[in-house]
Amino acid sequence: MSTGFALHGFGESPEVALDDVPVRGTLPEWLTGSLIRNGPGTFQVGERRYRHWFDGLAMLHRFTIRGGRVSYANRFLETESYRIAREEGRIAYPEFATDPCRSMFARAMAVFEPQATDSAKVNIARVADHYLALAETPIQVEFDPETLRTVGVTGWDTSDFGRMTTVHPHLDEERHEAINLVTRYGAVSNYVFRRVDTTEAGLLHGDTFASRAVREPSYIHSFGMSERHLVIVEFPLVVNPISLLLWLRPYIENFRWKPGRGTRIHVFDRASGAHVRSVTADPFFAFHHVNAYDDEDGSVVVDLVAYDDASVIESFYLHRLSEPDVQIPPGTLRRLRVPLSGPHGRLHAEEISPTGIELPSIDYSRLNTSPHLRYVYGISVRSDRGFYDQLVKIDIETRTTVVWHEAECYPGEGVFVGRPERVAEDDGVLLSVVLDAVRGTSFLLVLDAATFAEIARAELPHPVLMGYHGQFYDDLLASDRPGQVLPAHGS
Ligand SMILES: [Fe+2]
Repeated sequence: MSTGFALHGFGESPEVALDDVPVRGTLPEWLTGSLIRNGPGTFQVGERRYRHWFDGLAMLHRFTIRGGRVSYANRFLETESYRIAREEGRIAYPEFATDPCRSMFARAMAVFEPQATDSAKVNIARVADHYLALAETPIQVEFDPETLRTVGVTGWDTSDFGRMTTVHPHLDEERHEAINLVTRYGAVSNYVFRRVDTTEAGLLHGDTFASRAVREPSYIHSFGMSERHLVIVEFPLVVNPISLLLWLRPYIENFRWKPGRGTRIHVFDRASGAHVRSVTADPFFAFHHVNAYDDEDGSVVVDLVAYDDASVIESFYLHRLSEPDVQIPPGTLRRLRVPLSGPHGRLHAEEISPTGIELPSIDYSRLNTSPHLRYVYGISVRSDRGFYDQLVKIDIETRTTVVWHEAECYPGEGVFVGRPERVAEDDGVLLSVVLDAVRGTSFLLVLDAATFAEIARAELPHPVLMGYHGQFYDDLLASDRPGQVLPAHGS
């Protein structure tokens, strides 16, 4: 069976609201809250199909767990991209690897009036009690976490155009701050850190507190943060900003792999924003940082899921994923040790585990920035061909791996939810939305995070397209009225 079906074989996810999803197994009493997940709801608009897994119209999904029961709702993000797609049947804005059909004149005019997609489909964040759908464009979309209805557009840095950001802001609840990295493109481009006080009512009106000029900016999907430092890992997948200005091809296709540059690491002081050091490592590429910490030996240790080159991006084109023997390059968990003083040679990222892993997750609320982090969860390809078909748990200490796999099942990101009184790091559950390709439906899988044994699954009557990131909020309950059916969109 082709593996591309996991992404588009079932067409569009329908909008539904289900107050009681059938559960097989017994959910733990303590497990209460909501998983909100983001991703593409469809790859088809009118006669056109998006080209890449990272394209598509955003759809939010909410699984609420309470008293051993599960409710579910989903809804397309009601943005301009969505409205034009539905009303006019066309792709209106440039996406990661898909451009609207435009005349050369329209392309030229876009230089003077550039537009970014508002289809914020990659991640979720809660900032100052606002729930946001996040995109790599500066446009973020606020939504109501109960109804999933769209509230409006906001952004990390919308003062003017010509920038991209990451969908992986770091949130520090103790310091009440959210930090994100923005790349501003121009004659002189800049990497800029933006910081938001999360106690402020003024959503996302933060300050710029660190920046670094760059001639050819890199495609950067996330960044590192330790207790005392911020880390930009600048991969040699870079763009000439003029190419973006002219926009003759989709966004990511303007970037070029230049391994001769090596991978450059820029470390900043987290308190002052001052540049601390820049060093060079062997060339590699990564989407996701996993953790970073300040070591006693005076270095910053940066863990990420790394690839030898950026060809993984090409493997996510939908036509490639439709090939029967698709090969996705495996990312592996690697560790960079960045000395902050003294002489050093070219750095090399050490492989912590040979296990392929993507969409890495950890017990973020307790162990982000900690040197004691031991377990990393993620998805992985079981053999060397096919789409992500297993969940893995890598033990950094013993360098061993535990696996969950079921035939013809394709799990999404694993989200760790810890038991509130936990002592052991992995005392909790791992949640994953899994597509069952045989039944043509998806289910919410609940694994014991310690053993990776299945505890329960809540089975939806429909498939959910393979998405990206989600967040679990233990204080978010959809409704105080059990049995209430939330209104679906359009009803
Ligand atoms: Fe990501």
